[in-house]
Amino acid sequence: MPQRLVYFNGEFIPESEARISIFDCAVMFGDMVFEMTRSFNQEPYRLRQHLDRLYGSMRYVEIDCGLTIDQMEDVTHQTIKANLPALDNLDFQIMHDVTRGGLSLYENIIREGTAPIVSINIFPLVRHIGSLASQYQTGSHFVVTPQQSVPSRYIDPKAKNRSRIFYKIADLQANRMEEGAMALLTDEHGFITEGTGNNFFMVRDGEVFTPKPHNILRGVSRQACLELLVKENIPVHQANIEPYDVRSADEAWWSSTTICMMPVTQFNFQPVGDGKPGPVYHRIIEAWSAEVGINIPAQAERYAELAKTWVP
Ligand SMILES: Cc1ncc(COP(=O)(O)O)c(C=O)c1O
Repeated sequence: MPQRLVYFNGEFIPESEARISIFDCAVMFGDMVFEMTRSFNQEPYRLRQHLDRLYGSMRYVEIDCGLTIDQMEDVTHQTIKANLPALDNLDFQIMHDVTRGGLSLYENIIREGTAPIVSINIFPLVRHIGSLASQYQTGSHFVVTPQQSVPSRYIDPKAKNRSRIFYKIADLQANRMEEGAMALLTDEHGFITEGTGNNFFMVRDGEVFTPKPHNILRGVSRQACLELLVKENIPVHQANIEPYDVRSADEAWWSSTTICMMPVTQFNFQPVGDGKPGPVYHRIIEAWSAEVGINIPAQAERYAELAKTWVP
């Protein structure tokens, strides 16, 4: 099997050789931004929206990566093309990483120099999707963690950056409450913000609610859900939601790039609605599957089977 290649500052190098220095700003300060896109039928999904967000993140942290957004789109397509022989017809994630580069204090020892580093790697979704496949049927358990979101006036979560230790702490807390439970964060007023890698939706009396787009990463899949809900004529509101409100929800789900939508059937150790994925969830994931020409939960099940023997 041919090996996967990483775009690394203008060159394609084998994935196993792609490295940054221990003196890179990303390692020193978590000083970098990134983006994650996925493919359906090996075509990138909403790539331009992901790149718009990447360039918004770069503007926010004041990194000039040296490529225009059109050039970035172009090298992304080149990276996909260079990797197709190694992808075995599988769908994949596309990770864009942009670091500010090596810290100038160490400039003589850093092979890559001190300019920003742009890398793009492609990785099949087998494990990522496969490991959560059963939850499309059973749903996830969300718990509100003591760790809260960082208010946007401190570090704006709309910029997808790697200074995200608070998300990790929330994950650790959620797992301590129950192994496999997922963290749901709140803001300083107690309103629900987002999960540690996803956005939140709930349904009550046939209407959908999702947190306002302030102290959250504005997910590309959140946007996809909003558009699909409008297409399906289901009323949707961006609103302040308190954990209290979720107790009277009929259903809930989370959205993220690789998974698309996952039902939330338990919230703080109580069932959401009847504790099963609900009709609105089913309608939207079916509409999404139709739009991209892939049955999303069925693909996850196929990947779960494959993951048992798959060697990356
Ligand atoms: C903190 C956070 N919120 C929300 C999301 C969902 O965003 P998207 O739908 O663009 O994947 C992510 C994705 O990684 C995330 O890290």
